[in-house]
Amino acid sequence: MSVAASNPGPLLGRDAEIELLASLLDGIRDGGGALVLYGEPGIGKSRLLAWAAASARERGFTVLSAAGVQSEAHLPFAGLHQLIRPLRFRAEDLPARQRAVLDAAFGLGQEPAPERFQIAMAVLDLLGEVATDARLLVLAEDAQWLDRPTTEVLAFVARRLQSDPIVLLVAVREGYPSLLVDAGLPQHRLGGLGPAEAMTLLDALPPSADPVGGTPERELAAAPPRARGARRGPARRAGPAGLASRGVDQRHARRDRQ
Ligand SMILES: Nc1ncnc2c1ncn2[C@@H]1O[C@H](COP(=O)(O)OP(=O)(O)OP(=O)(O)O)[C@@H](O)[C@H]1O
Ligand SMILES: [Mg+2]
Repeated sequence: MSVAASNPGPLLGRDAEIELLASLLDGIRDGGGALVLYGEPGIGKSRLLAWAAASARERGFTVLSAAGVQSEAHLPFAGLHQLIRPLRFRAEDLPARQRAVLDAAFGLGQEPAPERFQIAMAVLDLLGEVATDARLLVLAEDAQWLDRPTTEVLAFVARRLQSDPIVLLVAVREGYPSLLVDAGLPQHRLGGLGPAEAMTLLDALPPSADPVGGTPERELAAAPPRARGARRGPARRAGPAGLASRGVDQRHARRDRQ
């Protein structure tokens, strides 16, 4: 689900994460920071990023986002381009040399692509410039599919946020390699929802005309979580909010095969 998805319904059972994200946003007065949220497909990473984006806007933040997509994973700077494109007019406030660096990175100038370090510095300056007007939340969605140059730049930026009113929030699927996972940034693993929240979420789903194996999904949701190890893996999608761990993802799996 993208950050921009509309009407996602209430956010259930994430009090600890809400507290964590709110403290990051509110703590920005003392300096920025980064957080990597990771977890299984469907566990609710995007849902939390959407919450963070809405909360940040309420607090007067500017929100920028980039989402990795498989088809652009090999396009250098595709993610960064998406992230800073809304700022292209602000880039005019940067020193000419840094503006030229960004242009070259995006293939706009005459010069060959500059060193990665120069690009990262130029991006840091640009974000810092924007953050002088309004605090800034930067979202990196589906980071497992962001192109590598973009993740290198974001990792560089993330390690230098202490003195800027900027928060970087990364969502990444568990088990996928990403430089942002290995960058030494604070991390938080999203687990499945508790039984009560899982039940509420299931109640909100359209009724299944053909419950898998004749077992009503609500009963399956209330069943104890399975041994997770055998079911883990990048190719698997868990279904909403980790309901897979409660045995209701067979419907999703079957749909994927059709
Ligand atoms: N805490 C929650 N409360 C209510 N709905 C939730 C919650 N967590 C997830 N959902 C719903 O479950 C579905 C899957 O969540 P989401 O898209 O956020 O998963 P994800 O971890 O981003 O998955 P992926 O790795 O595929 O991007 C969405 O419809 C979302 O709105
Ligand atoms: Mg997602």
